[in-house]
Amino acid sequence: MSGKTYEHYVDLKKGLVSRDMFFQEGVYRDELEKLFPRVWQFVGHESQIPNPGDYFASRMGEESVILCRDKKQQIHVFLNSCRHRGMKVCLYDEGNTSLFTCPYHAWSYTLDGKLQGVPMYKTIYEGCMEKADWGLIEPPKLCNYKGTIWANWDPEAPDFLAYLGDAKEHLDLALDCRDGREGGSEVFGGITKWIIPCNWKFPAENFMGDTYHNVSHKSVDLIGIGPSAKADVKGRRDNELEHAKHLWINFPQGHGVHSAIMPEGQEYVESFKDNPEVEAYFRQCFEERRKRLGDKSRLRPFVGTIFPNTSFHGNQPRSIFVWHPHGPDSVEVWRFFLVDKDAPPAVKDFLRHYYMRYSGPAGMTEQDDMENWNYATAASRGTIARRYPYNYQQSLGKSAVNDPVPGNVCLQVGEENPRALYNRWRDYMEGKDWDDLLGKNDPMYQPTQG
Ligand code: FES
Ligand code: FE
Repeated sequence: MSGKTYEHYVDLKKGLVSRDMFFQEGVYRDELEKLFPRVWQFVGHESQIPNPGDYFASRMGEESVILCRDKKQQIHVFLNSCRHRGMKVCLYDEGNTSLFTCPYHAWSYTLDGKLQGVPMYKTIYEGCMEKADWGLIEPPKLCNYKGTIWANWDPEAPDFLAYLGDAKEHLDLALDCRDGREGGSEVFGGITKWIIPCNWKFPAENFMGDTYHNVSHKSVDLIGIGPSAKADVKGRRDNELEHAKHLWINFPQGHGVHSAIMPEGQEYVESFKDNPEVEAYFRQCFEERRKRLGDKSRLRPFVGTIFPNTSFHGNQPRSIFVWHPHGPDSVEVWRFFLVDKDAPPAVKDFLRHYYMRYSGPAGMTEQDDMENWNYATAASRGTIARRYPYNYQQSLGKSAVNDPVPGNVCLQVGEENPRALYNRWRDYMEGKDWDDLLGKNDPMYQPTQG
């Protein structure tokens, strides 16, 4: 690891962050070398590859990978790069195959990654090459967590659950069934993919709970594009969390979430007023969940970012999205929509329409965010603009550890979550060891900190 210091990029005490970390080509290259090869990255969902031979072309950092299921139902992730001259062995977004055959010189690989077919092998390779040594490259660490598939290139990396830490119960709120059963989600519809002209960290920090930017969404709130859009409810979502205690929490591993605790005894809030079937389904889920989880059912999801670039909307519009690095001032967004696998078709159909109305490049809410990040990028990367740091002083010193839930918790709108993100980001960029990357000795997470 190089000894380059990133100390001056982040000033936690003053709440200042250098603009250079968002716009410099050298910083971006360092992220590709030092950060992305070490972090756990979301590559897809098992429901996207239900049958042997199914594959889904995904990404890790800037690199193409293949998520696939082999003939024994084993799930794999492979670097999508032929071992001969590096051609993509899979040129399609998704499909089913019995072999990955390279279009260049036609080496072919089995579904479990072994090099099987090499044209003219006996004549030109026998005695020169061992096929067994030239299978597709697989990340050494893979985890299927409640159907979501995560991979890590670092053989020394901690297991996914250790990496997730106490952010687990918040991610669970997105992945578990609406009635409280564990897991059970599926990805439905297509994956929305698009490019936004901004650095990947802009949206990653926004989805740690930038509640302060709600003013940007004033127009959609006034129009009312939520699930009850045609009834008397305005806004982008239902108002289930109106009386909840809101929590902005960050974790030693660099994750940050915005969740909420509903008041004791709060009843189901009508959310789908124009559709009695959908309304009845979600009411029943609410009751079942309360029976199943008791007091724990009061913890409700909003948004979060699993360090560094996988975010989730826990409820509405329930989804996982990845901010793929695409250059210092460009991010390729992939949004995967989630639904309970066993939800009735009418519910899935209703949600599909709501998700499209809300999200993606044509989604009415997401357009607001894109405009902000786009123009902020253009106005920030100039020579003069980059001399001045961004202000991250919101609610400085207002968080407390493990109160009332595990993590470093702020009970008011604040910027402690992005401060924590960049604190950890700096450790990766400086090549620290795993104890530091997991924040084990970080004073920010010691219970005495007030
Ligand atoms: Fe794949 Fe040559 S690059 S066979
Ligand atoms: Fe937004």
